[in-house]
Amino acid sequence: AVGASGLAATAGCIGGGGDDGGETITIGSDIPYAPFEYRNEAGDLIGFDVEIAEAVFGEQLDLNYEFQETSFDGIIASLNNANFRVIMSAMTINESRAERVDFSDPYFTAYQTVLVLEDGDISSREDLRGEAVGVQRGTTGEAAAEDLQEEFDGELQIESYDQINGAFDALLNNQVSAVINDNTVSGEFAAENDGVVFLEGDGVAADQEDAPPYLTLTIENYGIAFRQDDDEFREEVNGALQAIRDNGTYDEIYDEYFEA
Ligand code: ARG
Repeated sequence: AVGASGLAATAGCIGGGGDDGGETITIGSDIPYAPFEYRNEAGDLIGFDVEIAEAVFGEQLDLNYEFQETSFDGIIASLNNANFRVIMSAMTINESRAERVDFSDPYFTAYQTVLVLEDGDISSREDLRGEAVGVQRGTTGEAAAEDLQEEFDGELQIESYDQINGAFDALLNNQVSAVINDNTVSGEFAAENDGVVFLEGDGVAADQEDAPPYLTLTIENYGIAFRQDDDEFREEVNGALQAIRDNGTYDEIYDEYFEA
């Protein structure tokens, strides 16, 4: 299956997997979404999710596994059509999704945040009224934009892109005034692009320890998604997630990507 999407990071390439010649666990993911799932210059698939997958499916569960690239919008339908076994794609656990899939225990906390151009016109949340914002289609960033649109009585234009890079490019090209997206992903983009900054302000996470020091629209948790008939496997994965927290592997991976 992985051949079809041309991904380099089969279990073999990133060292994962058992050797019983058994079933290969396929992991649906929308790529790139750095620092969670993206390619290095050599073309290898890397990222926080990729290493957590190696630790959980490869090391703890001793399974063969491989990532399968897929679009984020429609990823749940694709899981339920059995195109892959699980979703691992920096996916936020929420109620509407939980009607269609079952989630693992949470493995990462994220916040919806707003990226703007430093020398642009947007310096507060209220400045977004009447503006165009870019989001990735089918994401909680898009949902947060819709909430803001409602709050502004419709006075917000939402531009949805198939991949987050489309929204980032639109910001650089002045086609949108802001991008609403997960904080660490936007943070990586801001770090690499001069003049791209987070919108300041007191957000929902203002009083929370470890919260980002800028406007936060939501607090979210990522989970691995399973079909609703896959309870036994989901429980095994939850056990493995707990094991990598207990043995320090989770913290090592976390530090590699977020405390550099
Ligand atoms: N956390 C957001 C959501 O669940 C965005 C995820 C996008 N992930 C990706 N790999 N493109 O909607």
